[in-house]
Amino acid sequence: MMQNRIFIPVAAALVLLVACTSEAPVGPPQPVLPEVTPSYRTATAAVFGISFPSEFDAPYFDERAQLGRVLFHDRMLSQNGAVSCNSCHLQSHGFAEPKALSTGLRRELTERNASHLANPGSQFAYFWDGRANDLTTQVTMPIENHVEMGFRSLDDLVLRLDQLDYYAPLFEAAFGDAEPRVDRIQEALSTFLRSMVTCNSKVDQAVAPAMQEFWNPWGVMDGSITLDGLNALERQGFELFHGEAQCANCHGGPHFNGWGMDFADIGLDAESVNSSGTLVNAGGGFFGGWGPTAMKVPSLRNVALTAPYMHDGRFATLDDVLDHYSHGIQDVPTLDPRLRDWGQTTITGGPDLIDPIFFPGTEFNGDLPPVRLNFTPQERLALKAFLNSLTDHTFVQDARFSNPFTTP
Ligand code: HEC
Ligand code: HEC
Repeated sequence: MMQNRIFIPVAAALVLLVACTSEAPVGPPQPVLPEVTPSYRTATAAVFGISFPSEFDAPYFDERAQLGRVLFHDRMLSQNGAVSCNSCHLQSHGFAEPKALSTGLRRELTERNASHLANPGSQFAYFWDGRANDLTTQVTMPIENHVEMGFRSLDDLVLRLDQLDYYAPLFEAAFGDAEPRVDRIQEALSTFLRSMVTCNSKVDQAVAPAMQEFWNPWGVMDGSITLDGLNALERQGFELFHGEAQCANCHGGPHFNGWGMDFADIGLDAESVNSSGTLVNAGGGFFGGWGPTAMKVPSLRNVALTAPYMHDGRFATLDDVLDHYSHGIQDVPTLDPRLRDWGQTTITGGPDLIDPIFFPGTEFNGDLPPVRLNFTPQERLALKAFLNSLTDHTFVQDARFSNPFTTP
């Protein structure tokens, strides 16, 4: 007994001492959540003929998504409490950040522009270089990244969450008991990201009544689908994008990103440099056509909100982007063949002119110059109107994805 009485004040003093001298971050306030967990399942079938049944039917889907929402917005997920996922992925900007590079927990800059998050559940590759392909494990990579969130190991994060009392009921509701675990953190965060379905732009609304099984832009081109919801300019832009301007060769599919698994070098730089700025030789890469300078084709959903553009955020506006495609494409050996001027040749040029992406093993004849689309002012206006009609205003205002902490 006696020993205990002495021990307690000493222990308390020790705790105080540790609290004063260590770098323990000041925690955010409690998250404020709706009394009834909202449904995070979105019916997408009507829009694009795409549904995510296995994901949305998972048990506790809503509870896991809600826990994921708290984790996504919690600054305690960074080692010193400085940044949360939404520091770099802001809802009002389509979950991108309006800066070329983002600032991590110790004010260091990230190597690349923060990706925006548009239907992350239906992508097949993540990050600009596609180095991750499993969302469940990808979501915790920023936490261990020393620039971004800086935890030495995810086990340290588990210890951190254990000390934050608002997590116990959330884990309990989502997993049946209150224990935070690495796999549960991954499951909750990735469930939240999978629930981030954006499919309510003006283009979606115009396409929906005509949707059959699949997303079929050619139905628009051949007149069997009418885009009644779009004005003349937006419609012209849609047709250019999927037709003459050839954007859909890469940005095709329902997410305007080549079905979430396409990569290309679009000739941004006069020399072939890889994603870290190192000079590389042409060729190589996986599937023959995708070399080490190729970047993921980004989704153009909400693109009006996600400036600046490209993997390094070099372009501030959509006009800058259109300048590039209009007359700025550089003639590098690694340039994607889809951006060469195929109009200057005919197929009788021989098998060496066949696109190696679709016919692996064949050689591409690099003599063709980069395409010069030279948009007229009218075409430029139309393309911009179309890109602007890809904004889903309900998505960026949806309370289910918003910051639950009263002060961010
Ligand atoms: C300090 C800024 C920062 C923080 C914090 C951050 N991210 Fe990111 N995020 C980025 C950057 C930069 C990229 C692109 C990196 C690259 O491609 O190399 C990215 C890419 C992603 C992608 C890939 C998207 C795609 O379509 O390829 C996902 C998903 C993602 N982040 C989720 C998260 C989650 C979840 C968290 C919190 C656990 C988080 N991020 C925290 C900056 C950040
Ligand atoms: C050869 C494939 C290809 C074609 C064709 C193509 N793009 Fe891209 N696009 C890409 C890739 C890859 C990126 C990312 C490049 C990077 O950051 O290095 C990109 C980036 C963009 C971006 C920036 C998005 C962001 O979030 O940063 C916009 C906007 C864009 N493209 C619009 C268009 C338009 C409009 C057209 C038609 C005129 C077009 N693209 C044609 C592959 C292509």
